[in-house]
This record gives sequence, structure tokens and C-alpha cells, in this order.
Amino acid sequence: MNGSKSGREHWGSKVGFVFAAAGSAIGLGNIWKFPYLTGQHGGGAFVLIYIICILVLGLPIMIAEIVIGRHTEKDPVGAFKIIGGGGRWTAVGYLGVLSGFFILSYYSVVGGWTLGYIVKTITGVVGGITDTSSAEAVFSAFIKNPVEMVLYHFLFMALTVWIVLGGVKNGIEKWNKFLLPILFVIIIVLIVRGLTMEGASRGLAFYLKPDFSRVTVFTVIEALGQCFFSLSLGMGAMITYGSYLSKSDKTLDSSLQIAGLDTMAAFLSGLAIFPAVYAVGMTPAKGPGLTFNILPVVFSRMAYGNVFALLFFVLLFIAALTSAMSLLEVTVAYSTDEKGWGRRKSVLIFGSLIFLLGIPSSLSFNVLSDVKIFFGLTFFDFMDKLTTIYMLPVGGLLIAICLGWKYGLRNTMHELDTDTGLQFLKKIWAFAIKYVSPVILVLIILYFGVYRMLVP
Ligand code: TRP
Repeated sequence: MNGSKSGREHWGSKVGFVFAAAGSAIGLGNIWKFPYLTGQHGGGAFVLIYIICILVLGLPIMIAEIVIGRHTEKDPVGAFKIIGGGGRWTAVGYLGVLSGFFILSYYSVVGGWTLGYIVKTITGVVGGITDTSSAEAVFSAFIKNPVEMVLYHFLFMALTVWIVLGGVKNGIEKWNKFLLPILFVIIIVLIVRGLTMEGASRGLAFYLKPDFSRVTVFTVIEALGQCFFSLSLGMGAMITYGSYLSKSDKTLDSSLQIAGLDTMAAFLSGLAIFPAVYAVGMTPAKGPGLTFNILPVVFSRMAYGNVFALLFFVLLFIAALTSAMSLLEVTVAYSTDEKGWGRRKSVLIFGSLIFLLGIPSSLSFNVLSDVKIFFGLTFFDFMDKLTTIYMLPVGGLLIAICLGWKYGLRNTMHELDTDTGLQFLKKIWAFAIKYVSPVILVLIILYFGVYRMLVP
């Protein structure tokens, strides 16, 4: 099982790593948020801008994280002890592990919702939905029920724990190789269904017609923030996955493939959703509203709607589960590498702690809905904003600075592929990490963390 002298477990193959990392990246952000952002921010124009953002910000940081991981063969804390030379830089690693801990605690609550809706589809509750008000009634009754919320959160966490217990190769890699192809097949089936409905073209136009008049400088920052989140950057998830790479595997190549798969999943999700929404004469809404209040109505208005509803919620569930594995693995890598715990002990202890921390989030829609922690936010919203708006961008900024300026790129250049035609990319990458990424991340922090918090 161990592929190296160090005794560290490795991926079974490079493809396995690409699938696992893509599984981490492809999550609720791709299926909920990207389509909505695109629809609102100029359609095809936004897609174009998004792809540029991936190239300018996403890929360089992704490569940096994977390089740090493979170079140090450590969890984020251990990695920063090495590239930060001990001392204060180690805090960046702790920030990452803490981010993983926090994010999974509420991500699992939403993962539980997807499980709940799979059950509700099978038992016919979703099939009984006929209009938006009945859809809203079902959804709000669901999240207002504290017992169901905690139960589904528990189930989702338990599944994540069970998979991660299996290890890097026989748990995470095996399941991603199985689930990710299913995810893409489901998206394609849903696209075909949507596009063959009468009136689908209006949805296609809403989604993709390039409208540059809607593009402002804020659109660009929005796209930058989304690409950063979507690629699971800023907390060492990719450092951790990269640390299980063998020295013979290619880092540049893999990064391009991971970013490509993630972008494809995001783009295709919109193609699966909007044509169908418009074909049944509805208009899209944002975030959870689109998924739980609009889509059930859309399914109820198409032939064999129940089957497609089931496929859709399974899709969401797979997306959430494969991301959750990587979040848990970050905390597990930390406790096995730094504390010397066994995998079993690490997974069970951190899995339990994360479940407990998620309880106040799962109660944020019912028992604790009036308890506002900071800035008038519920616990769930607070954890969400704290991690995605502050912790991840700050983590990304410090990763770029530590690698680019403190440790120096010269010490890690050999981790990039040496035998490809990608040589010129290395110079561009070095420039991006040292100068471009830090500037952009500061902009993102100022925009989302200061401006948008004050001017909602
Ligand atoms: N990329 C995931 C999504 O699109 C969310 C996410 C952000 C994430 N950071 C992460 C997942 C770190 C795993 C690890 O939904």
C-alpha cells in the first residue's frame, strides 16, 4: 500500500489523483453558484472572463499548492514548517486546517439536504410538488425540522468518515474514480433532457448570450472569487492531495486537467439547468432557492420528472460528497503527520468534532434561527462568510507570498514537469505567483471582505 520509503501512502495512479482533486473542486459551488453567476453577469461574456480568471489566478495557485504538497510530502502545517522555515509561517498551515474543519462543518449540513431530497424524491414528496409555493413549503418544513436536519447532517458526515477511513488509495481515490464519471454522465443526461424540451432556447439565450454591457470591474472580481472557491484553493486541500503524489507524476499537466474538469462541470451544470427552467415557463432564482424551490417544480412539469429529479439530487450529493472527502482529509493529514495518530483515530476524532461543530449550523434554520452571532448572521451564515470571504483568500495570499518570496521558487522549480512542451509556462507561473496572485487576492479580500460586507 505504501509507495515510498517514507511510508507515506500514495495515489495508485496519476489519473486517480486528477479524479480525486477534480472531485474536491467540483462541488456545490459549480452546480449552484456558477450557473447563477453566469446568468446574471452577461452570459457568454462571463464564461469568457471566468476562463481568463482561471488562467490568471486559479491555475497558478493550484500549481503552487500541488507543488508545495509534493515537495514537502506533508499536511499543510508540516508543509509550512518546511517552506516557511518554522516560526510564524507555520500559522498559514494551521489556518488551512482550521478552514477545512470549519467549512466541512456547514458543508455537511447542505450535503445532508441533498440526501434528504434524494429520500423525498423516492418517497414521492418531491413528485407531489406542483408550484413554487408548494416547493417552498416542502423546503421550509424540511429545514425547520431540527431532528431531520441533524440526522441528515450526521448521515452525510458518517458517509464521508467511512470513505476517508478507507485511506487515500482504497477510500478517496477509489470512490472518486467511481463517482466522478457518474457525475458527468448525469449532467449529460440532464442536458439532453433540458435541451430537447420545447422552449429550451430561451434558457440557452439567458445563460449564454454574451452581454458585455453587464460586465463591470465587479463582475471580474466576482469571477475571480468564484474561480478561487471553485478550485478548492486557499486552505491546503490541494497541498494535502499533492502530498500523496509520486515524484514521477506531473504537476503542471495534472493542474491543467483538474482546472479543465472543474470548469467543464460548472459550465455544463448551467446547460443542464437553464434550458429546462425556461422551457416550463419559470425564471431562475439564486442559490438554494433555485435548487430547492424552483427545480422541483420544473421536474414536476416534465415527463418522467421523478427520474430526472432523482438524478439531479444524486448529482448534487456526489458533488458534495467528493468535496467533503478532501476537507476531512486535510484534518486527517494534519493529525497523522503532526501528531502521529493513526488514520482510524484521526478520522473518527475529527469526523466527530466536525459533526458536533455542524450541529449549531444545522439548527440555524430552526431552533437557533434567531441567534445571531456577529453582524446579524446566523451560525451557518457566519461560518460560511468567515471561511469563504476571509479565511480562504487570506490563506491563498499567504501561500503565494510564502512560496514566491520566503521559500523562493528556485527551490521548487524542479517539481514542475521537465519533459513537456510547457517550459515557457514555468516562467509565466513564477511571475504570476510572485506578483499577479498576491495583488489579485488583496483585491478580492478588499472587495468581498470589506466593500461587499458594508454595501450589501
Ligand atoms: N470547491 C468546492 C465547490 O465548488 C468548495 C470548496 C471550497 C472546497 N474550498 C474547498 C472543497 C476546499 C474542498 C476543499 O463547491
